[in-house]
Amino acid sequence: MRKIIIANWKMNLTPNQSADLVVEFKKKLGKENNNEVVICPSFTALSIVAEKIKKSNIILGSQNVSWMAKGAFTGEESISSIKELGCKYAIVGHSERRQNLGETDEMINKKISICLEKGITPIFCIGETLQEKQEGTSDHKLYTQIKEGLKKIDLLPHENLVVAYEPIWAISAVRAVTPHDVEPEEAEKVFKFIYQNLVDLWPLTIVNNNVRIIYGGSVDENNSKDFGQIEMINGFLVGGASLDADKFSQITKNI
Ligand code: PGA
Repeated sequence: MRKIIIANWKMNLTPNQSADLVVEFKKKLGKENNNEVVICPSFTALSIVAEKIKKSNIILGSQNVSWMAKGAFTGEESISSIKELGCKYAIVGHSERRQNLGETDEMINKKISICLEKGITPIFCIGETLQEKQEGTSDHKLYTQIKEGLKKIDLLPHENLVVAYEPIWAISAVRAVTPHDVEPEEAEKVFKFIYQNLVDLWPLTIVNNNVRIIYGGSVDENNSKDFGQIEMINGFLVGGASLDADKFSQITKNI
């Protein structure tokens, strides 16, 4: 399976700034990259970024999507709209939405369902808080997020899923996170745990062929080299460092 590197620009750029950044990034990325590269701008920048990445192999994703097809949901965006603008992926259940906007496992489950039904690949985010890590309840948290987020979802052979493990304590860390913060063995253990939980849900062939488990949390142009060595990591979800064309293009080459 190809590795996938996803830029999550969050709410950092205006549409014009997004257009400028993607043009710069496109030049840096070149044509040689074998990995799949996805850019997730904010909703208002999707059209302009879609325009700029035409004739490139950069793929468009959204940072969120509604679980309802259409109707009276002020401020939400529908799956039909993001598809019409060219999105192939949607981030679902990012910890910032879970924490700041009260997004629940149940909402996330509905979003994953509609994405799969309508042909958008969900980037399903999971991860524990620092407190949960210190209390030793990380596994339980991840187990619950997987169980509830994927409840009644039967991943079919033509459907794909990306599971992004983002320990909340490592996201946008002020200090430079290196694999010494998330030790490779520790990361590998968590990835095996996530993989095992997916295998408990779906046939092995589906998990091996249709699901990529990726890492996120202060990934940058330096630590991505070490994380990239961990066999079970199929890619990265990158926030801060994806706002810099040099850094992000380097990250796409480090895995
Ligand atoms: P970060 O963000 O790379 O800035 O830590 C990652 C994310 O929140 O997806």
